[in-house]
Amino acid sequence: MRLPQLFAHRAERMKASEIRELLKLLDQPDIISFAGGIPDPAYFPRQAFADAMVTATSEQAASVALQYSTSEGYTPLRDWIVQHMATLGVRCTRDNVLITAGSQQALDYLGKLFIDKDDTALVGWPTYLGALGAFNAYEPRYDRLDPADNRSPEDIVADAEAAGGRVKFAYLSPDFANPTGVTLSVEERRGILSRAKAMDCAIIEDAAYQSLRYTGQSVPPILALEMQETGDIDACRTIYLGSFSKTLAPGLRVGWAVAAKPVISQLVLTKQAADLQTATINQIAVAEVARSVFDSHVETLREVYGARLQAMLKSLDAHMPDGISWTKPEGGMFVWVTLPKGMDGAELLKSALEARVAFVPGGAFYADGSNANTLRLNFSMSPAAKIEEGIARLGEVIKGAL
Ligand SMILES: Cc1ncc(COP(=O)(O)O)c(C=O)c1O
Repeated sequence: MRLPQLFAHRAERMKASEIRELLKLLDQPDIISFAGGIPDPAYFPRQAFADAMVTATSEQAASVALQYSTSEGYTPLRDWIVQHMATLGVRCTRDNVLITAGSQQALDYLGKLFIDKDDTALVGWPTYLGALGAFNAYEPRYDRLDPADNRSPEDIVADAEAAGGRVKFAYLSPDFANPTGVTLSVEERRGILSRAKAMDCAIIEDAAYQSLRYTGQSVPPILALEMQETGDIDACRTIYLGSFSKTLAPGLRVGWAVAAKPVISQLVLTKQAADLQTATINQIAVAEVARSVFDSHVETLREVYGARLQAMLKSLDAHMPDGISWTKPEGGMFVWVTLPKGMDGAELLKSALEARVAFVPGGAFYADGSNANTLRLNFSMSPAAKIEEGIARLGEVIKGAL
């Protein structure tokens, strides 16, 4: 078969996601898996979606719900998002909102829009693997985005230029990041904003987990902090990405981007060329479910996932040997574990699977594959008793490997 020889250069950077390959192996019922990164299906608002779909396909409504619609997205859903963003301190209009097929699609479109080959994308170290996957096709160079970085913005810009491009954006997930669970403080967010200004680049604020806070005080989005300075969303460099995947259900593939109008207009053109629009009926169903149960449903998730997070932190305290550290998230779906230097999360996974417990090795979340002595644990999918048993197993595996 010779066709692979004809693939474009960009195909070389499209690698199978280790996580997806791994998830295929985890169907055996006796494995306690902390490897997924998905919501617990027991808590999907199933009845609300069933009702919304019945209404959307009724005789009066079907001609709209089953028809093509605009690339910008379903107007009542964009209006719901305008209200939602106002509660987060972001005043915007419908024209600042684009509905996407999940925030993953927005990441792809932003890669397409901003990155020429050899341009620099600043990303967290570690960062969301799916963002690297989305950007890779556009052949960027990656540099490190670190709130505590002691390199000056001028140095970062100079490095980007020496590599043959320029710094186009900083990508980060400031609330309960995937994979670390870490949340940036207001000061850190302001620091990123001022560094982005100094580098004259965009900020992509991936807020996939923003609503899932279980303890502590919420922190304003970077876009809200920037609006406090500019007073006008159309003068902002931050592009905010939201998603219904973690709050309502990922299977409908509905997310959104909020940004200055010139960015949204160009994203609309990108969407027209790529897939015309996000599925009409899914947008209608999400708009209805969001209107009727978003707040109460998120409250339920906070209780359920919050208890699971506490169970995981308590179990880690009880079962991890000395020399192992982990993050203490206030929300989201993940805890990030650091093993002693020299240990390899991927190697550890082999013995963990023998002990019937699974996680995601951390190296894949680094753009340069470094820091193999890390691993990501998901707590949203398992009830407390399972978490305790799984962490006890993992503790034994780690003790055996030390
Ligand atoms: C940080 C982050 N961003 C974006 C996504 C993509 O989510 P979706 O495309 O379902 O909105 C995920 C999914 O796991 C994620 O963890």
